[in-house]
Amino acid sequence: MVSRRNVILGVGGTLALVGAGAAWRVMRVPQKAYLPWAQAGRTEHDPRLDVFRHAILAPNPHNMQPWQIRLIGTDQAEISCDLARRLPQTDPFDRQIVIGFGCFVELAVIAASRHGMKIDVETFPEGAGEERLDDRPVARLRFVAVPGLEADPLAGFIRDRRSAKVPFDLKRPVPSETLAALQAAGSDLVRFDCTRTESEVQALIAMASTAFEREMRTPHTLRESIDVLRVGASEIEANPDGISLRGPLFEALSILGADKVRADAMDSQSETTTNQIARYRQIFTQTPSFVWLTGLGNSRAHQLAAGRSYLRLNLLATKLGLGLHPISQALQEYPEMTPLFAEARRLCRVETGETLQMLARLGYADPVAPTPRWPLEAKLIRA
Ligand SMILES: Cc1cc2nc3c(=O)[nH]c(=O)nc-3n(C[C@H](O)[C@H](O)[C@H](O)COP(=O)(O)O)c2cc1C
Repeated sequence: MVSRRNVILGVGGTLALVGAGAAWRVMRVPQKAYLPWAQAGRTEHDPRLDVFRHAILAPNPHNMQPWQIRLIGTDQAEISCDLARRLPQTDPFDRQIVIGFGCFVELAVIAASRHGMKIDVETFPEGAGEERLDDRPVARLRFVAVPGLEADPLAGFIRDRRSAKVPFDLKRPVPSETLAALQAAGSDLVRFDCTRTESEVQALIAMASTAFEREMRTPHTLRESIDVLRVGASEIEANPDGISLRGPLFEALSILGADKVRADAMDSQSETTTNQIARYRQIFTQTPSFVWLTGLGNSRAHQLAAGRSYLRLNLLATKLGLGLHPISQALQEYPEMTPLFAEARRLCRVETGETLQMLARLGYADPVAPTPRWPLEAKLIRA
């Protein structure tokens, strides 16, 4: 959210002020915030704990990690939403939050298979708020041992899964057989589709770039992102969620004052915002393929199913050595986005009655670092 020039000026100024004695601070890296990635898979007395150590690694909007987990008896759990962790400006109907829960549930199911267990999933067992979520549970899970059950082949890729917010290698197009293999992520509620020609790719790059700019230039949606910025190691460790900015440049800026970073980034017409838009436009330009998931409807059940499919798509892509990067701006239902919402539907061949639930860039890239997570203990609710 900060331009390189501002950052470099900031670093120079900071170092002059604090002197060489504090220079070590710019080398700090968060540690605790990444431990949950290492903790998944360790031995637990209760297999549900291991299952949820995997599930909390799910992709989810702005990494808000809205899940609350209540263990019930010895073989059940109830999953509910921390309503304060929603993103009402960009996700006014909580559609994307529910998709994140779908990712969480699918990860739980896959991780349970490693323990020879299936999970009977009852979604929205007490019904669901269709306009906005409420405090009724999102899902009830019952763990059932199944003798001889084999581990899901995708289980081995959970800790390597990422959202690849990086340029892809344009010299390595995604082979059509690989795209065809990703079809397996679809279900009876969700269909998979992808770009078939270079002109379709170019049209989606243009649309997605305009939609990104629209979100950044719209003060109330920009603000929602800025409010969850975590600048530098100490903010990331204190709140391992949201949009984390790490590395020496951001450490230097955090010495200057993270609030100054936020204030600069808050102006939707500023140079900082313009540079951020240009940076993302450049990333989007380096996209060999797009893939998307269309819900055959838009009920809470369809949204949850879309999340389950998206998670499988993300793991399949990981297995095939591909990066996957969701780009959701044009799919969001706030008034300023309406024309681009319609354009995305047209470009993605969405039929009447269907909803474009996830759109993502796909391609080959260098490895991407994991994002922070709250530990499981922070997400367990005591009964
Ligand atoms: C419903 C949904 C929408 C998302 N939309 C975007 C997006 O528009 N842009 C983006 O960069 N990442 C998007 N993401 C990815 C999240 O930012 C990412 O999952 C989160 O930061 C955690 O990072 P990880 O997936 O690498 O673990 C989305 C994820 C979900 C589940």
